Amino acid sequence: ATAPADWDKPLAGRVAVVTGAARGIGATIAEVLARDGAHVIAADIPAAGEALSQTANKVKGTAFPIDVTAEDAGAKLAEHALERHGGIDIIVNNAGITRDKLLANMDAARWDAVIGVNLIAPLQLVNTLVEKGALKSGGAVVDVSSIAGIAGNRGQTNYGTSKAGVIGLVDAYAPVLAEKGITINAVAPGFIETAMTAAIPLATREAGRLMSSLQQGGQTVDVAETVAYFANPASSAVTGNVVRVCGQALL
Ligand code: NAI
Repeated sequence: ATAPADWDKPLAGRVAVVTGAARGIGATIAEVLARDGAHVIAADIPAAGEALSQTANKVKGTAFPIDVTAEDAGAKLAEHALERHGGIDIIVNNAGITRDKLLANMDAARWDAVIGVNLIAPLQLVNTLVEKGALKSGGAVVDVSSIAGIAGNRGQTNYGTSKAGVIGLVDAYAPVLAEKGITINAVAPGFIETAMTAAIPLATREAGRLMSSLQQGGQTVDVAETVAYFANPASSAVTGNVVRVCGQALL
């Protein structure tokens, strides 16, 4: 690895795409990468509207309204980044959804929606960016998996499968991207306090917090700092890893 020219701004001169950046973990990842000096392209669904503009303004970056499952999402991002910035150094596949149901009631629509956003989109975005020559050598891909992809969660067959798939994707892509000088790693957060987990019934939420050996939920910044570590050029020898964030070491 090469030490950054400026340790206070290790991502200076770098361009980072963060998907799902309008709120929650993605918004904090955008802030932390911008703090480290990156120009952040904050991507989220068009319906995120004002929230996405707020993230982009806060980090002095670019708001990029896009549904990551759209067929042309990767091509549009590549075109924008190549034209304006000469490419992308970092992509954080953070956009994610849940559509929980016990397995007996798990219908195809719930299954397809979750696999589409959480697994197929990260795969296709990276594929397209590489194919278009938009992902630069020396860059980093960081995927947001989940502890639910390591240990099963009741009612989350679709979600757990998608997040386990992300870990498979990291394993499979690490040697392929290494040939291009790009790293790929994943973070697997445990229970993090966001709008996504606020929607969970209270008793389940409390159980989620207690599953952590820390006996409490994590904050978005716990995940964001781990992402920043993988994005740092000083971590260029770190690839193919999954780091659990928030105390669920026993799972
Ligand atoms: P959140 O629901 O607060 O934020 C997710 C963001 O992704 C939203 O702004 C949403 O509009 C965006 N998004 C959803 N579908 C999209 C699409 N098709 N295209 C573009 N953007 C889209 O969720 P949170 O909690 O911040 O989660 C972020 C990531 O972390 C997700 O991948 C989630 O699965 C993962 N995660 C969260 C955990 C938690 O405890 N909150 C635990 C483990 C993983």
